[in-house]
Amino acid sequence: MNTQYTGTALITGANNGIGLELTRRLLNEGWEVAALIRSAFPADDLPIMKAVNSRQLRIYTADLADFSSLRGSLNRIKADEPKLELLFNNAGGSFPELLYSPQGRELHYELQTVVPYIITMELKELLLKGSMPTVINTSSNAILSIKSFDPALLERPLTFKKLFGPYAHTKMALSLWTQELAPTLAAEGIQLRSADPGGNNTLRKDKNSGLPFYIKPLMKMFFHHPSYGAGLLYNAALGKHKDNPGVFLIKDQVSSLKFSGHAPAVLNQVQHIYLQEFSGAPVI
Ligand SMILES: NC(=O)c1ccc[n+]([C@@H]2O[C@H](COP(=O)([O-])OP(=O)(O)OC[C@H]3O[C@@H](n4cnc5c(N)ncnc54)[C@H](OP(=O)(O)O)[C@@H]3O)[C@@H](O)[C@H]2O)c1
Repeated sequence: MNTQYTGTALITGANNGIGLELTRRLLNEGWEVAALIRSAFPADDLPIMKAVNSRQLRIYTADLADFSSLRGSLNRIKADEPKLELLFNNAGGSFPELLYSPQGRELHYELQTVVPYIITMELKELLLKGSMPTVINTSSNAILSIKSFDPALLERPLTFKKLFGPYAHTKMALSLWTQELAPTLAAEGIQLRSADPGGNNTLRKDKNSGLPFYIKPLMKMFFHHPSYGAGLLYNAALGKHKDNPGVFLIKDQVSSLKFSGHAPAVLNQVQHIYLQEFSGAPVI
């Protein structure tokens, strides 16, 4: 048990896979968890249900890719949670085809690049009330495979490839805006980093996986239990890089980001969407 830190952690996608294992770990260590989730926790998980009943685990429901649903849940979080120590932007995944959000942007881009920015901005005030404000954006080592990158194509990609297409490109965009924004947030007192959780077997019978066919058997045989990825996200927040803003971590090590020259443009894109479509503030 880690007795050094506790507080409240908000985790998106806390009900399945890596997010669920991270939730279990933090609850076991005495943390309170605010779960921002689309579907329910497993109803037969007694420790989880016990934590819900005692309010150590508090549930906020939203389809994160739908801004009206997201806005409602963020308002409830701001009304009900007095402060946050940690924010894990974890919800995401690889989809099997080109899909679009209710706002009309490619779904990976909305969910994995734009929405983590919106959640971070909207919860900044709660984080600043916490004792160790830290935001971890869940990226992927799939970004290492990218050969060319154009921020202008994220919203409406011209082509689709499972895992190595929009999924990888939008994780790259996530790590790029993270790197670009981190010094500004660090000056305000918030630590922001991105991390790859490694290869974890999070296949589900009820999920139409967007993984290439040859990866599924490899995942079943060789990928880690999702507690492995949860451990890497946990370390990204509280481990040896806890005072290292903006870095992209693979296996707990700093990894350099290709296409850093595009980081200002990507940050500019997500900021523009946030201001124009979410916060109601005038765009200058
Ligand atoms: N598994 C790996 O090997 C691996 C490797 C690198 C990076 N990652 C990243 O790690 C993160 C967690 O993935 P995982 O492997 O644990 O997958 P997972 O088991 O499928 O969990 C994904 C979580 O994201 C949630 N989610 C997806 N779309 C959502 C939406 N529109 N609104 C709200 N929640 C939504 C899911 O909710 P539902 O339960 O409602 O579907 C689920 O809780 C993802 O960002 C993924 O890209 C995973």
